[in-house]
Amino acid sequence: MLRTKIAGMGYYVPEKVVTNFDLMKLMDTSDEWIQERSGIIERRYAKKHEETTSTMGAAAARMAMDSCGVNPEEIDFIIFATLSPDYFFPGCGVLAQRALGISKKEIPALDIRNQCSGFIYGLEVADQFIKTGKYKNILLIASELQSHGLDFTTRGRNVSVLFGDGAGAVILQPTEDEDKGILTTHLHSDGTEAEVLSLINPGSHCGYHLGKEQFGYPDIEYGGAFVTDKMFNEHMLFPQMDGQAVFKKAVTKFPEVIHEALKTAGYSTQDVKLVIPHQANLRISQFVQRLLRLTDDQMYNNIQKYGNTTAASIPIAMCEAKQEGRYAEGDLVCLAAFGSGFTWASALVRF
Ligand code: ACO
Repeated sequence: MLRTKIAGMGYYVPEKVVTNFDLMKLMDTSDEWIQERSGIIERRYAKKHEETTSTMGAAAARMAMDSCGVNPEEIDFIIFATLSPDYFFPGCGVLAQRALGISKKEIPALDIRNQCSGFIYGLEVADQFIKTGKYKNILLIASELQSHGLDFTTRGRNVSVLFGDGAGAVILQPTEDEDKGILTTHLHSDGTEAEVLSLINPGSHCGYHLGKEQFGYPDIEYGGAFVTDKMFNEHMLFPQMDGQAVFKKAVTKFPEVIHEALKTAGYSTQDVKLVIPHQANLRISQFVQRLLRLTDDQMYNNIQKYGNTTAASIPIAMCEAKQEGRYAEGDLVCLAAFGSGFTWASALVRF
């Protein structure tokens, strides 16, 4: 029976550092409020007109390939997770393929839209293809460019201060080592509260889910429905979030899905060298750490430097934690995510 190992990993964060003090020049907020509520001190923003979600993803992919000596031509499948794609369509998978110069090979490229859980969803998809022997070198990229689409007025402050840009990538390969690689993955979703954390406009919904009146659709039979004047004028083209509802659900689902992974693989929290949660909010991670009775050494956080980079946060954190010596070959690492949808997921990996 084949297992899937994480053979290589890489990340990319834009050069531009934006501190809480920088944001205070744009909106009514404070360093104290942001740090107290989220732990975030600074984040990175991509350079307009020079960087995109797919180019950042390709940069992370190059580092991942270099780290394990795989050439772009050896990649046989690309999976790309993002909630902030360059285009509505086509997806970022084909754009990353083009940026990496491997379009001629005509390998498949799959886009995944599972927000903060996107990386672990991608990991499970890749795991299935590797275990069946279909692919031998899967490139999984998770990348987000959120800063271009945030509301930097006081009106959007509850969301804008939390998010940052960045990308991570891994190369997944088969191994016959029974005790190495992805031991188990668990994916979940519940669409009941889909809009609680969402960016619904522009979209094709035309008011179906929430009532059409509030969006200002023109009275014509066809067309003209993705973006309306009212959406522009009334700041309806930005992400929205009920922060307290997200917090409550996150601190329930993170521990649940981590326990699920440990139980399935026959381990306990004591066996885990490091838990790498999606970097949603430092307060959420601290709450989860307390509930699971993990030591500080067992929990990884880097949201202080990067903000919430959604799908990219886990692979970025995996790279940095490795560079910092927080885990090494042979260690058991648990990845966990919760986010918009709601979706949540976990993966237990032996490096
Ligand atoms: N700066 C200053 N004041 C702010 C800001 C800001 N950036 N944002 C909101 N406020 C104000 C509000 O306007 C409100 O003012 P009011 O009392 O005068 O009306 C006050 O702060 C409290 O607002 P709440 O929304 O009730 O703030 P809360 O204490 O719930 O904190 C937060 C908000 C940090 C979002 C919190 O709910 C939280 O941690 N939620 C978890 C959600 C999260 O972290 N999401 C991240 C992305 S989701 C994911 O990745 C899974």
